[in-house]
Amino acid sequence: MSQLPAAEFINVTKAFGPVQVLHGVSFAIAAGEIHALIGENGAGKSTLMKILGGYQPPTSGEVLLSGQPAHFGSSRDAEEEGVVLIHQEFNLADDLTVAQNVFLGRELGGALLNDAAMNREAAAALARLGVPIAPTRKVRELSVPQKQLVEIAKALARDARLLIMDEPTASLTVRETDVLFDLIRKLRSAGVTILYISHKLEEVKALADTVTVLRDGAVVSSGPAGELTPHEMANRMVGRELEDMFPPKGQPGEQELLHVEALSVPGWAQDISFTLHAGEVLGLAGLVGSGRTELFEGLLGLRPRTLGEVRIAGKAVRLRSPGDAARAGLVYLSEDRKGKGLLVDFKLRPNLTLTTLQHYAHPFLDIGAEQAALERAARDYNIRTGRLDVEARLLSGGNQQKLALARILEADPQVIVLDEPTRGVDVGAKREIYLLIQRLAESGKGVIVISSELGELLGLSQRLLVVREGRIVGELSGEEINEQEVIQYATGLKVAVPKATGSSIKSLESA
Ligand SMILES: Nc1ncnc2c1ncn2[C@@H]1O[C@H](COP(=O)(O)OP(=O)(O)OP(=O)(O)O)[C@@H](O)[C@H]1O
Ligand SMILES: [Mg+2]
Repeated sequence: MSQLPAAEFINVTKAFGPVQVLHGVSFAIAAGEIHALIGENGAGKSTLMKILGGYQPPTSGEVLLSGQPAHFGSSRDAEEEGVVLIHQEFNLADDLTVAQNVFLGRELGGALLNDAAMNREAAAALARLGVPIAPTRKVRELSVPQKQLVEIAKALARDARLLIMDEPTASLTVRETDVLFDLIRKLRSAGVTILYISHKLEEVKALADTVTVLRDGAVVSSGPAGELTPHEMANRMVGRELEDMFPPKGQPGEQELLHVEALSVPGWAQDISFTLHAGEVLGLAGLVGSGRTELFEGLLGLRPRTLGEVRIAGKAVRLRSPGDAARAGLVYLSEDRKGKGLLVDFKLRPNLTLTTLQHYAHPFLDIGAEQAALERAARDYNIRTGRLDVEARLLSGGNQQKLALARILEADPQVIVLDEPTRGVDVGAKREIYLLIQRLAESGKGVIVISSELGELLGLSQRLLVVREGRIVGELSGEEINEQEVIQYATGLKVAVPKATGSSIKSLESA
């Protein structure tokens, strides 16, 4: 007799007020398989998984677990049945330690918390993931990838029978991803069923046994992963044949828009000098942890730093805060959209206009103009949401990213620094962001892209700086930009003195 599916959705619908998000979803997840769920931003993937994980009830329809109807009143109920969800937008308490988060809601030792035992077990869960994060550290102090790993460790410590992973690798490095994949395959061998959501279709292809495609809240197809190439997956997600991902590269102009000289961020970056021209897309490559983000946080005054000189469009400027930078014409999109990018508990309108409020005050706030700006942004950036009058946290992950992008561009900056601009964004929207970057450059702005997706940097950059251990170790342009070269510089197999990017460049060969 064939085994019952681990889980099955039968005609599941979900409406938030007047907005219908899921339209009668039906498919089954076989016991012990890795089942991928893919679809565009806002397709309803996380919503469906939150229903399965007991975080919210369906509006109608049914969820079966091993053939039995599941009526979860809460995520706790679901966890008792072995259904555990790893959240896309982390569900961690910032002020608690790593160990306290791992055991949140089911602390060891009853009334008297047994800290030593919790620390030990949390450390063990993290060790399985191959990451040495001290269990006593506060979550607030962790980087985004570290938070992601704690979120995963928290689920692993819960003995799941059905483990739901909502974009677990969005912020992980290749190495961390490999470790996680090994672990996922081990869990499968041990009989755990895995539901895996990702926009990284190559990963889906490598990992999944079955793929279900969701479009606009309905199932497009559900079948063996072996039958679909990543390109076919992408086409099914968007419902049409996708064109080339990258528009042809333009030519940078003459005018120097940004000149940074001798920037050091203690512990992260040393003696960094570079320039950016009008019309240029400059990529910043390097391994995660190479100091790219910290370098810009230092430039913006978010970290202690020492600085020679900064000129924007030829004018020397002092940047003590992101606000200073925005006024001087430089904006920065943080890779940490939830922590440093958006005010997720506020509505979309203030999120869009917060940094440019003065444009809407004459002297009283012109709500109508603000609303018009929001409607325009929703159109221009294709922010998909049933209603515009919602809190930012209610947007799907990818749509939050588009809002964060719209927000920094509201200020009409000259220099735009984008840190992981397509994290959590679906293939179609990725392409739109690439076109946007291209358009910004064509209109004479300078764009710097930091990304851990090498394909993205190769496809976009006219010039590429490679950062390794806080130093610029290589500079490539035009035909020299290829994967091999970048990896050699990023991993230290090759070290070169950057070309004329500034007068203060010292020889790095001694480094
Ligand atoms: N509590 C809520 N109230 C109103 N609308 C909601 C709520 N939760 C989700 N939505 C809406 O439901 C739709 C589906 O969101 P969901 O998060 O499921 O998308 P997703 O497929 O996970 O997308 P992504 O790939 O961007 O993570 C979105 O339009 C979102 O704005
Ligand atoms: Mg989601």
